[in-house]
Amino acid sequence: MTDETIPATGLEVRLRAHPGDQVRADDFEVVEIPIAEPGDNEVLVRNEWMALGAVYRDQLDPDTDLPIPTFQVGQPLWGRTVGTVLRSNSPLLAPGDLVEHFFGWREYALGPAQAFFKRDRDLLPAPEYFLSQGPTAWRGVVDIADVHDGDVVFVSGATSGVGALAGQLAKVRGAALVIGSTGSPDKVDYLKSLGFDAVFDYHDGPVAQRLAALAPDGISVFFDNVGGEQFEAALTVAAHGARFALCGALAGQFGRGDGGRPRLDLMRAFPKEPVLRPFATLHTPDQIEDWNRRFAELLAQGALVYPHTVFEGSVAGLPESFLGLLAGRSRGTAVARLVAPERG
Ligand SMILES: NC(=O)c1ccc[n+]([C@@H]2O[C@H](COP(=O)([O-])OP(=O)(O)OC[C@H]3O[C@@H](n4cnc5c(N)ncnc54)[C@H](OP(=O)(O)O)[C@@H]3O)[C@@H](O)[C@H]2O)c1
Repeated sequence: MTDETIPATGLEVRLRAHPGDQVRADDFEVVEIPIAEPGDNEVLVRNEWMALGAVYRDQLDPDTDLPIPTFQVGQPLWGRTVGTVLRSNSPLLAPGDLVEHFFGWREYALGPAQAFFKRDRDLLPAPEYFLSQGPTAWRGVVDIADVHDGDVVFVSGATSGVGALAGQLAKVRGAALVIGSTGSPDKVDYLKSLGFDAVFDYHDGPVAQRLAALAPDGISVFFDNVGGEQFEAALTVAAHGARFALCGALAGQFGRGDGGRPRLDLMRAFPKEPVLRPFATLHTPDQIEDWNRRFAELLAQGALVYPHTVFEGSVAGLPESFLGLLAGRSRGTAVARLVAPERG
């Protein structure tokens, strides 16, 4: 139960204009709006944590190939969020329940109870753990690439929310060697502290040369979050029959280059017979619940940690926090703290 006072107004972030090549804080506007009481079958939720991720960069553009809706000028942005139900006019949820939903980028969320998914507060160590990129990392490592004993795995974009979990999961599945790429020396150290066996900075010379030195017999699995040169390099060093789980294209999303459209060198590919599998995890309720259960078990066993970076600054600071993500200031999943309980 909660008898928390509900303020008359709350903040939300709207898109002021589609960005050009460079995202700027004034592409967004932070607006104060009235907080309404829930109607029939509706709930009112105080938003506590929101995930910040590369996907928002794509959603800011007017034309993308994403399988989800993009952001509209003048409208609030949306995204994965967890919070606490404050008022409920539905038998599905009660005040005090922890819920996950997509009405992010705002302090308070109001909507039909069916759009809010109840989470077990006691399952994971803290509410922000429910925002991990685990469903995607698990699907790529286990269902798509089938990582198993002895594999030599290369994870590109290894400090991303997806990548930092994918590398740890590859170890859990018995990989013999897990290599990660990242963009700065401090992130190299960070990934080693997570258990990556070898890590290199992709700014330090041709990626194919770095990989060839680290995996002289080739890689058997590639978990790609980056695309571009790193995809092409992975194909160069792929062992025969290597499995490629193609998850993201950070080099194109953040770098705005041609990262999402790397060159597929067919003459190199033919004799290696690689299996190239792009995939999209749509975060179905089943995928999320399965992952959360597994995540709890793996954390309890000490088999992995939840790599994440907290961006403070609440809803008013979200545009700056997002710029911080774009500038590479996150390690693991970027989570933004929204409204603390019992705000005055
Ligand atoms: N297929 C699916 O179902 C699915 C689901 C979720 C996400 N995704 C995709 O998976 C990828 C990772 O998502 P995420 O949300 O985990 O990412 P994220 O945490 O937002 O990634 C942030 C990291 O991207 C790296 N980065 C920035 N510019 C880069 C560049 N030019 N080249 C290489 N790396 C760069 C930076 O690390 P460095 O400092 O190390 O460069 C930064 O810390 C994205 O492409 C995302 O769209 C796919």
